[in-house]
Amino acid sequence: MELHFQLPIMGRMCFSQLLTRIFVIALLSGTLTKVGCLEFNYLTFDEDDEIHFYRENSEIEFQAILVTPDISDASKVMNKSGRFLYMEPLKIWRKEKDNSNGNIIASFNSTFVLNISPYSSNQIPIGEGLSFILTGKYPLPDNSDGKWLGIVNGTTDGLAQSQIVAVEFDTRKSFLEDIDDNHVGLDVNSIYSIKQVSLSDYGLNLSSGSNLTARIQYDGKNISVFLSLTNETTDNMTDSVLTWPLNLSDHLPERVYVGFSGSTGDNIIQRNRILAWDFQISNIEENPNLLWVWITIPLLVVLFLSGVVFYLYCSRVCCNEIPEETYPMIEERIQGSSMAPKKFQLRELRRATGNFSPKNKLGQGGFGTVYKGFLGNKAIAVKRISKDSRQGQQEFIVEVTTISSLNHKNLVKLIGWCYESHELLIVSEFMPNGSLDKFVFGMATPKLSWERRRNIIFGVAQALDYLHNGCEKRVLHRDIKASNILLDSEYNAKLGDFGLARTIQRDEKSHHTTREIAGTPGYMAPESFLTGRASVETDVYAFGVLMLEVISGRKPGSRNEENSFNNSMVVWIWRLYSNKMILDAVDSRLNKEFEDDEMNYFLVLGLACCHPNPHERPSMRTILKVLTGEEDPPMVPLEIPAFVWPSIPLLFKDDGETTEQGGDLSPISEIIGR
Ligand SMILES: *[C@@H]1O[C@H](CO)[C@@H](O)[C@H](O)[C@H]1NC(C)=O
Ligand SMILES: *[C@@H]1O[C@H](CO)[C@@H](O)[C@H](O)[C@H]1NC(C)=O
Ligand SMILES: *[C@@H]1O[C@H](CO)[C@@H](O)[C@H](O)[C@H]1NC(C)=O
Ligand SMILES: *[C@@H]1O[C@H](CO)[C@@H](O)[C@H](O)[C@H]1NC(C)=O
Ligand SMILES: *[C@@H]1O[C@H](CO)[C@@H](O)[C@H](O)[C@H]1NC(C)=O
Ligand SMILES: *[C@@H]1O[C@H](CO)[C@@H](O)[C@H](O)[C@H]1NC(C)=O
Repeated sequence: MELHFQLPIMGRMCFSQLLTRIFVIALLSGTLTKVGCLEFNYLTFDEDDEIHFYRENSEIEFQAILVTPDISDASKVMNKSGRFLYMEPLKIWRKEKDNSNGNIIASFNSTFVLNISPYSSNQIPIGEGLSFILTGKYPLPDNSDGKWLGIVNGTTDGLAQSQIVAVEFDTRKSFLEDIDDNHVGLDVNSIYSIKQVSLSDYGLNLSSGSNLTARIQYDGKNISVFLSLTNETTDNMTDSVLTWPLNLSDHLPERVYVGFSGSTGDNIIQRNRILAWDFQISNIEENPNLLWVWITIPLLVVLFLSGVVFYLYCSRVCCNEIPEETYPMIEERIQGSSMAPKKFQLRELRRATGNFSPKNKLGQGGFGTVYKGFLGNKAIAVKRISKDSRQGQQEFIVEVTTISSLNHKNLVKLIGWCYESHELLIVSEFMPNGSLDKFVFGMATPKLSWERRRNIIFGVAQALDYLHNGCEKRVLHRDIKASNILLDSEYNAKLGDFGLARTIQRDEKSHHTTREIAGTPGYMAPESFLTGRASVETDVYAFGVLMLEVISGRKPGSRNEENSFNNSMVVWIWRLYSNKMILDAVDSRLNKEFEDDEMNYFLVLGLACCHPNPHERPSMRTILKVLTGEEDPPMVPLEIPAFVWPSIPLLFKDDGETTEQGGDLSPISEIIGR
């Protein structure tokens, strides 16, 4: 049985380093893991915690486990099951050696806070529910949605091979056997509970939307379920709602996964969440054999000493010779991509930039510094990632490989890269006119004419359409803003600085305790404050803000203290629109040198992109069509709509756009095999 999780990437190591590690690992595993019981405690969940879990259709969002999918798209919410399991299997029983006393069974306690609620306040959540599970088989069975609660399906129901014991919190009467739509049941390899209890007898309502604290207690003989309203929970929930004898060794393998499963049904949109989770299990591992210890420890010491000797020898001879490829395969991965950028030597880039002379500095960001340089007589920009942002390097590699496969006239071209002596450098084309923000807000001359501004908007739209729809893998930029738009000598816009946002984010996170959201305030869609996630819609929002600021010459608003969503520039322009004075928003420096109709189109399109509801925003495809005059701008309500979350999406979108949420590795999210 194997779980899919990412191994930390280890570089090439000297043999001696390897020995040292083996020694340390052996020593630790020989001593530490044998003591104490396993426990974990999540008072709340963070997206970064996801690596500790095995998930299917399930994720961490709103600081909670969403056992079944969230409503990014209604068709994705209906008829779905999901699973969320702690990654490490737990030893739940073992055979007694002499077989005299039967099996030794662990005891465990698990307390969690669950919340089952509808997606909007005027709906009643009626299905299907969630369950606490212990299972030998981690994958979610196919077709286990609806009445199956993600526990079993029509084929595996009732089969011992299912290897699953579940405590169900069922909010729908989906079988004749179900006593009602508000019950707790004990399920063993089957959805037909061996025992069920109606919660109405206890004055509890699973689907009332309130937080409920549940405790599952197992002492090796009986399983008990305690349940109370979270705000009424006392330390000792004394009366169980359900207690039933259960011999786990009869139904489960020795090692099992623990977690939650749940499901939704047809036309029933219910959010199944776990807000906190505490788990403790007694340790039933055998005591380490002392004889084994007495033989192996001296052996390991000898091995260790020889390792040290070998290391001293080896660190002189071999380690200095091997280039420090902390990330093996970088080269293969980058060179393997279709538009392989050049690998530079550090010397070349030092020479090109005058040894990173401050005189050549073009700009500075959280991630590092950008220098101007010359290769022969060709000007280049060299981005030097600061050494302390080591954390971000793995992601950075993913970015370089992705960006290098992109090729569009409105994207800043990546020329090459370098990874040497812990220096990570990116070489890209040099943009003589610098970044757009200087022209839009600053005093940089010449003033940009409407022709130029329109051309810039069009260029950025083409670049984004290419990223979202035009290249092999979908890419989300996540940090569209005026300072990331660079201008070539003809004032053509080129989108640059991809993805570094996330890298910066990661680094900042280690310094700040507060949860930062990737992106730049003012350009961030309202929902991203809640989800912290990027999507094609958040990119479109940022593009809308960019359009409006290029036209109005104003800075977008900024996030205020309470993280609320007032984007002052958008609100201001929307008000002008309500009052049929939208042309007043246009930058006075344009001296009215434009056509009113066209300008009107552009402004309305900008507002449409900044619609508070992500599902109402046009796609980049549509935006391009409007910009080229093929389509009219989308209808925009006169009053700025209230931000509603979670929003109910349109079931069908004209061009089949779907939201791809980018919570994974890189700032650039990809959909493979579209
Ligand atoms: C559980 O079942 C196993 C196998 O049927 C048996 O050996 C063991 O004694 C049982 N344990 C308890 C506590 O009943
Ligand atoms: C579970 O809780 C009970 C009652 O509080 C306690 O007696 C027992 O030791 C706990 N078991 C574990 C494994 O923590
Ligand atoms: C039930 O799940 C198993 C395992 O995922 C799968 O092989 C089987 O086809 C599923 N049965 C149905 C009716 O979908
Ligand atoms: C539980 O709460 C929901 C929503 O408030 C309500 O519609 C339903 O009738 C309640 N069920 C019971 C059994 O009280
Ligand atoms: C626990 O299980 C044993 C044996 O199955 C049974 O005799 C006992 O009554 C159970 N305890 C409770 C509290 O139900
Ligand atoms: C959900 O499942 C039900 C029952 O199997 C089926 O009738 C319905 O068409 C499905 N709905 C969707 C949206 O897949």
